[in-house]
Amino acid sequence: MLSNQAGDEKRTSLHGHWSSRMAFILAVTGSAVGLGNIWKFPYIAGQNGGGAFVLVYLVCVIVIGMPVMMSEILIGRRGRRNPVATMELLGKEEGSSGNWRWLGGLGVMAGILILSYYSVIAGWTLAYVVKSATGVFVGATAEEVGAEFGGFVGSWKAITLCHTLFMALATFVVARGVERGIEQAVRFMVPALLILMLVLLGYSMSSGYFGQGVAFMFTPDFDKLTWGSVLAALGQAFFTLSIGMGAIMAYGAYLPEETSITGASAAVVTADTSIAILAGLAIFPLVFANGLDPADGPGLVFQTLPLAFGQMAGGMFFSTIFFVLLSFAAWTSAIGLMEPAVAWLVEHYNRSRTQATIIVGGVIWLIGMGSVLSFNVLADTKFLAGTLFDNIDYLTSNIMLPLGGLLITVFAGWVMCRNSTSDELGSSGTLYKAWRMLARFVAPIGILFVLINAVT
Ligand code: TRP
Repeated sequence: MLSNQAGDEKRTSLHGHWSSRMAFILAVTGSAVGLGNIWKFPYIAGQNGGGAFVLVYLVCVIVIGMPVMMSEILIGRRGRRNPVATMELLGKEEGSSGNWRWLGGLGVMAGILILSYYSVIAGWTLAYVVKSATGVFVGATAEEVGAEFGGFVGSWKAITLCHTLFMALATFVVARGVERGIEQAVRFMVPALLILMLVLLGYSMSSGYFGQGVAFMFTPDFDKLTWGSVLAALGQAFFTLSIGMGAIMAYGAYLPEETSITGASAAVVTADTSIAILAGLAIFPLVFANGLDPADGPGLVFQTLPLAFGQMAGGMFFSTIFFVLLSFAAWTSAIGLMEPAVAWLVEHYNRSRTQATIIVGGVIWLIGMGSVLSFNVLADTKFLAGTLFDNIDYLTSNIMLPLGGLLITVFAGWVMCRNSTSDELGSSGTLYKAWRMLARFVAPIGILFVLINAVT
């Protein structure tokens, strides 16, 4: 069906609109920049051997991440509803089927599952604000910082408290709604985080091991690269950009008509990738300077950074500010993770926004208890990818997000007619052709290829 909204009344969203183009970019950047950049990227890169992984990750960001993000925004803006309803509406409108709503449903599920463990880690950052401010790390040795971390996550009560507090904070902001809640939080957080990363970078450059850190990150050793680590790089690209689950689609639904989707996507991808690379450059030299293991896992930043701050002049102050900012970054991401589920409950079941948010927050909190226990009581209960935490992480980042991204590009590239997409992207020139090539061929085939090779 050839459908073009022009002429009809333009759709508007139930949940309000961004007040400006900048507000949209800030909100998407706020969702993208989070624990994925500063906590996850360094430890996943460390576990997968560094250089070659980083290279594959960068390629994935550019040739797959960018077109998927553009596809999500354009679908979201065209549908102007929650991801489930948008996919159903556009599926029918484009002459395919309302069953595309299941793709929206997959995203709602992915958001809930990701936030369930994300909130646990974000809870750690809250605790580290207090630990930093009370001088726990001042002058501490690597062993002391390691023992502090081990003792903390080993206590299920302590980390349950933090997980609960973080979910309460996230639920509070989401309940307040799109404009008042999200925009304000991001406006100062991203620039401030960037500045602090530069301070840390300065410190790690003076550690004497900077060259070794750079070599670890940028010297690709392809012998170490397995299909498993290629999939991890692809999954990390999806995770860090917040794509593949309809979150960006939900944000796109609140985007004014005239905003350039390509420009906004490029800005977000650049900001997000720069912060991840900066985090790696700050962290790996410290890992080598202190004889730590880059493959140490989820505790990596919670051990290297406090150690560095503890030895720096003014470290107590910087450390506190750093964990405050990281908590903020996690907070603005948590909002994005909840948005698809909340928008869906509001529209589909006619719930008030407050009610919907509390329900979603409660469910996520409960699932998250599984990840809380994965670091202590159930630490030795391992199956498939490891602990329950490891499995939820693997299932979401490495399976659900790439699969979601694959279907999103198939929808935007093959199901939607050319007029619809060029109308949204606002051009038919070279840029449009490049997007269409990537969305129709490179992204879906690339994702499928990696998934098949890694899983079989
Ligand atoms: N991008 C976030 C981070 O790097 C995590 C994330 C994944 C996310 N998917 C999302 C955030 C969807 C908001 C919406 O920390």
